Amino acid sequence: MTIFNLGSINADHVYSVPHLPLPGETLAATGFSIGLGGKGTNQSVAAARAGSDVFHIGAVGPDGVWAREKLAELGVNVDGVSQIQTPTGHAIINVDANAENAIVLFPGANVSLSESEISRALEAGKAGDTLLLQNETSHQAFAAELAQKKGIRVVYSAAPFSIEAVRAVLPFVSMLAMNEGEAAQLCAALGTNIENLPVPETLVTLGSKGAQWHGNGSNLNVESFSVVPVDTTGAGDTFAGYFAAARDQGADVAQALKLASAAAAIKVTRAGAAEAIPARAEVDVFLSQRS
Ligand SMILES: Nc1ncnc2c1ncn2[C@@H]1O[C@H](COP(=O)(O)OP(=O)(O)O)[C@@H](O)[C@H]1O
Ligand SMILES: [Mg+2]
Repeated sequence: MTIFNLGSINADHVYSVPHLPLPGETLAATGFSIGLGGKGTNQSVAAARAGSDVFHIGAVGPDGVWAREKLAELGVNVDGVSQIQTPTGHAIINVDANAENAIVLFPGANVSLSESEISRALEAGKAGDTLLLQNETSHQAFAAELAQKKGIRVVYSAAPFSIEAVRAVLPFVSMLAMNEGEAAQLCAALGTNIENLPVPETLVTLGSKGAQWHGNGSNLNVESFSVVPVDTTGAGDTFAGYFAAARDQGADVAQALKLASAAAAIKVTRAGAAEAIPARAEVDVFLSQRS
């Protein structure tokens, strides 16, 4: 089966700073790196590295040729990634000496795709395929509704959290993926609990405390693996991408949770986003050593 992903592609510009800049302050950074990121990209890379066929739907600007190439190098089909005139989405990430960060995000090309481009990209989609969505692109509800009509499983990550965005896609969603904070915000806004959300399945990741899946009236939990975290950027996306890929490949929920937990544990031991997501072979070795 194919995993489609209407997702963001960002250049993460990471600056090491002695402290986060104050209003009016000009500050010299002590370090700088550019990495490939964006929730969409991270999830596509995770699902591809997990061994699924992944078709990314997105856009980059004239400055994003490298990002599209990198995504392809990491195993993702980029035929649905348009090259447009709007600048590539990017994040300016300041990280201080205590690892506290402050981020400015420019959505750019990620919100410049048209509905007709999305329809065209989903034309080959069929029942049993999966569509991943996150809240960093335009036309989420349009894509979700179109996919649902074709019998494609829609997996929505409610991040960055926006209640309006969740409300718009929810009728078309098969599985809603959230971290603990996003789940709390959603339940508060809808005045309900995880078990009673109007969606067939939910996946809530709980950082170092593991993750919980709910569906068909039952709950399944997985613990986190004990590791020394270096950078938790993209942990949730690694989990979501690996989980969706395992299910796409026929794994049951318990197996998918375990695989995703191992992949995310390895990710947090490495700096970076998309490029730090482990390949399936590494995850299998990790699992054989830990169980
Ligand atoms: N410190 C950690 N140790 C081991 N695994 C972790 C750690 N932090 C995150 N993970 C793994 O990554 C998953 C997602 O992390 P979480 O913080 O819940 O998501 P997000 O990145 O969206 O905030 C967790 O369910 C867990 O499997
Ligand atoms: Mg977290």
